[in-house]
Amino acid sequence: MKIFLIYGGKSAEHDISILTAYSITQEVYYQYYEIEPVYITRDGQWVKGPVIHQADKLRNAESLRLSVGKEAVFAQKDQESSIGVLIEPSSIKSEDAVIFPALHGPNGEDGTVQGLFEVLGMPYVGAGVLASAVGMDKIVSKQLFQQAGLPQVPYVPVPKRYWLHQREDVYNRCEGTLIYPMFVKPANLGSSVGISKAENREELTEAINLAFQYDRRVIVEQGLQEAREIEVAVLGNDDIHTSVPGELVKSVEFYDYESKYINNDVRMQIPATLSEETTEKIREYAVRAFQAIDGSGLSRCDFFVTSNSEIFINEVNTMPGFTQFSMYPSLWKQTGLSYGDLIEELIQLALR
Ligand code: ADP
Ligand code: DAL
Ligand code: MG
Repeated sequence: MKIFLIYGGKSAEHDISILTAYSITQEVYYQYYEIEPVYITRDGQWVKGPVIHQADKLRNAESLRLSVGKEAVFAQKDQESSIGVLIEPSSIKSEDAVIFPALHGPNGEDGTVQGLFEVLGMPYVGAGVLASAVGMDKIVSKQLFQQAGLPQVPYVPVPKRYWLHQREDVYNRCEGTLIYPMFVKPANLGSSVGISKAENREELTEAINLAFQYDRRVIVEQGLQEAREIEVAVLGNDDIHTSVPGELVKSVEFYDYESKYINNDVRMQIPATLSEETTEKIREYAVRAFQAIDGSGLSRCDFFVTSNSEIFINEVNTMPGFTQFSMYPSLWKQTGLSYGDLIEELIQLALR
């Protein structure tokens, strides 16, 4: 059977996707599958060709460039290049194949490509259209979590027109409902892109303006001080399994893009040191969150836990970072499922 491994993407998380895809090519069970990598350029063109190796060199956003013509050329800083051919997305339609969309962020993790796969009638790994769209949207997912009775921090949604025409109302609502520090985020993104912490009105204004560079809708959240960040891996379609929780141990004030991917300031503690009661509650909340968005395949559910053991759900990622060293596969490894077996299980879930 063939696996179309789709990666890159028209997203601010393009580079993380390359790392994810590269990792998958290292561990997939080649005795069962033939891998056909399909790269989506930053401007949305689809290219068939060998998966880029030396993925660590691609951490730098500048390292990958594409010259568009009949043939596309990847030029890396070290001059290593590989050749691909531009294709129409619909040309991947085939009988004996499954798609692994190793894409993070908008235009990949948000239901858009999942819609294409549905139209083509092809099986694909991970969440469907609805769960992907909802999971990517921090405002809609919060509304569904609220309905599911999951605890979360107070927040104020800010549509662009509201910011442009009723700015005083936005300040009043934020400052009336929340206290500084606040976290300001584009509704749809990931990897901390466009997110900032605001300590006062001036910073709030700056943060909202920044977030609007990435989306038409912004969310302002109550900032938690010194909360621990706990994550749980969820796997399954109708039978839902959860991993042990893990902790992203902070050495920085909050996890921005730099600390996550450039400086590697992230240390994972798996399993997280939590009471049995908190562990059980978090695993149960993770299942409820997965069901609330109609998840399937996989998701990583992220929580905050305060010093007095209060739990708040932060977000669900339907295609979490998926290198061998990322939190999601590491959580499964610690729970007893190896990286290779995890990929196999995801493919089987896609075919079911
Ligand atoms: P992304 O989808 O980009 O991962 P998150 O909502 O997870 O966005 O925010 C990124 C990081 O910002 C979190 O991992 C955490 O460190 C910090 N953060 C986000 N929201 C809050 C909050 N309400 N209080 C405290 N820290 C937060
Ligand atoms: N959005 C990144 C890839 C993550 O959640 O792991
Ligand atoms: Mg996050």
